[in-house]
Amino acid sequence: MLITDLESLQNYHTGDLLTRWSNDSSTIANGILSWLPNLVIYTVRLLSTFIMVFYHDPWFALISMIGMPVSIFTTRHMLQSMRKTNKNVAAMNAKMTGFNQETFSNLQTIKAFDMIRLYRQQLRGMQQEYLDMRMTFQRLSLIASAIMSLAGLAISYGCYAFGIYRVWSGAISYGTMTMFLALSGTLTSTLNQLITLIPTSVSISVSARRLMDIWNMPCESFSHTEEVQRFLEENRADGIHICLSDLSYQYQGGTSVFSHTDFEAHPQETVALIGPSGEGKTTLLRLLLSLLRAQSGTAILRGGTTGERIRLIPSTRQLFSYVPQGNTMFSGTIAENMRSVKEDASDEEIISALKTALAWEFVKNLPDGIAHPIGERGKGFSEGQAQRLAIARALLRKSPILLLDEATSALDAATEAALLKNIASDTYPRTCIVTTHRSSVLDICDRVYEIREKKCVKVT
Ligand SMILES: Nc1ncnc2c1ncn2[C@@H]1O[C@H](COP(=O)(O)OP(=O)(O)OP(=O)(O)O)[C@@H](O)[C@H]1O
Ligand SMILES: [Mg+2]
Repeated sequence: MLITDLESLQNYHTGDLLTRWSNDSSTIANGILSWLPNLVIYTVRLLSTFIMVFYHDPWFALISMIGMPVSIFTTRHMLQSMRKTNKNVAAMNAKMTGFNQETFSNLQTIKAFDMIRLYRQQLRGMQQEYLDMRMTFQRLSLIASAIMSLAGLAISYGCYAFGIYRVWSGAISYGTMTMFLALSGTLTSTLNQLITLIPTSVSISVSARRLMDIWNMPCESFSHTEEVQRFLEENRADGIHICLSDLSYQYQGGTSVFSHTDFEAHPQETVALIGPSGEGKTTLLRLLLSLLRAQSGTAILRGGTTGERIRLIPSTRQLFSYVPQGNTMFSGTIAENMRSVKEDASDEEIISALKTALAWEFVKNLPDGIAHPIGERGKGFSEGQAQRLAIARALLRKSPILLLDEATSALDAATEAALLKNIASDTYPRTCIVTTHRSSVLDICDRVYEIREKKCVKVT
C-alpha cells in the first residue's frame, strides 16, 4: 500500500484498507497454515483409501464414490451464494472498521455536537446488518455441509447394501466385506472432513480477491533514485528551478482543476500561491510532489549549477520538504518526529531547526525538551505549536525545495511574520512555495501566483 499509486488508493476508505491489510491477510495466513495442510491430508487419505478399495474390488469403489458428483452438483449453486454473501460480509466488516476508526478519532466533535445517540444508533444498525449477513453465510454453510453429509451417509448405506449383496452372491468373503466396510467408513469420514473445509475455502478466496484488488493497482516507480541523488549533489549549491508548462489535471471522476497552465519558481525565491478555497492550491503542490500525475503538459526541475533538466517523478520527492495542511505530527517524541525525515540529525541540528521555526520557545520549557512525547495527530500541543513543529521538521530535512501549504494559518500575525522572515533570511539556496489566504504572508514573497479559471496567473 505504501508504494501503490496514491490516486488509485484514494477511492478506498482507510478503514477498508485496514481491514484488507489485517483481517483479509490473517484469513489467508490461517488458510495457508491450517486449511492447506488439512486439504492435502484429507485428499491423500481419500485417494489412497479409494485406490485400496479399487484394487480389491472396482465395483465397490465405484459405488462408494457414486454420491460425489451429486453432492458437487447440488452444492455448486450454494457455493456461489456463499461467495457472494462472504463478499458482502467482508465489505460490511470494512465499513464498520472505517466507521469505528472515524468515530474514535473524532470523539471530541461527536461529544461536542452531542451526537452520541446518533452514532450509537448507526453502529447498532450496522451491527444488525452484519449479524444478518453472517447468519445467512452460516445458514448456507450449514446447508452445504448437511447436503454433503447426507450424500456421505447415502454412500455408507449403499456400501453396506452392496457388501451384503456381494457376500450373499458369494463374490467376496465375510472378511473382505468387513475390510471394505471399514474402508468405506474411512472414505465417508474423510469426505465429511473435506466438506468442513468448504466455508473456509470460500472465505479465503474472497479475502484473496480483496487483496488482489490492491495488488493489481499501479505502483509508483522509484527507478531513477540514484540519478536524482546525483542531480541533487551537483546542484545543491545553487538550488533548483521548477518549471511547469501547459499542465492539465483532473481528479479521477472529478472536474478539471488545471487546464493548460504554466508555473515557475526559482532558487532563493519565495513564491506565493493564492486563490479562493477549492481552486487548486493544494492540488498544485501534490502535482509537484508527483503524488498526482498530470494528464498532459510538462513538469520539470532544472539544476541551478548544471542546467540539467529532469522530469518530476516519485524519486524527485527527495528534493522536497513539505508541510501539508492540517496536523501531520506522528505519535512519538519530538526528536523522533524530527529524525523521521533525517535519521542522523544531531540534537543541535534539531534545536537549530526548532529555533528557526520558532518552536524552540515552547519546546525548551517542556520537562523533557526534545524528548517530550507528542500524542496521536499532535495531541498535547496547540494547532499553532504543531504547525511550528511541522515546519521545523521540514526545515531540518534541508531540501532544496520547500512547500508550505497554509503552514502558518494557526499562528498569530506577529509569530507568522517572524517565522516567515526567518525562513526567507536563511542563506540556504531554497526554492520556497507557500499557499496562503493571508495578505500578511504576501509581504515576504518575491512573486505571487493566483489560481484563477484553472490557470496559475502571475499577479506580481
Ligand atoms: N481527492 C480528491 N478527489 C477529487 N477531487 C478533489 C480531491 N481533492 C480535491 N479535490 C477537488 O479539487 C479542487 C481543488 O482542491 P484543493 O484542495 O487543491 O483546493 P485548495 O485551493 O487547496 O483549497 P483550500 O484553500 O480550501 O485549501 C476542489 O474543488 C476539490 O473539490
Ligand atoms: Mg488547500
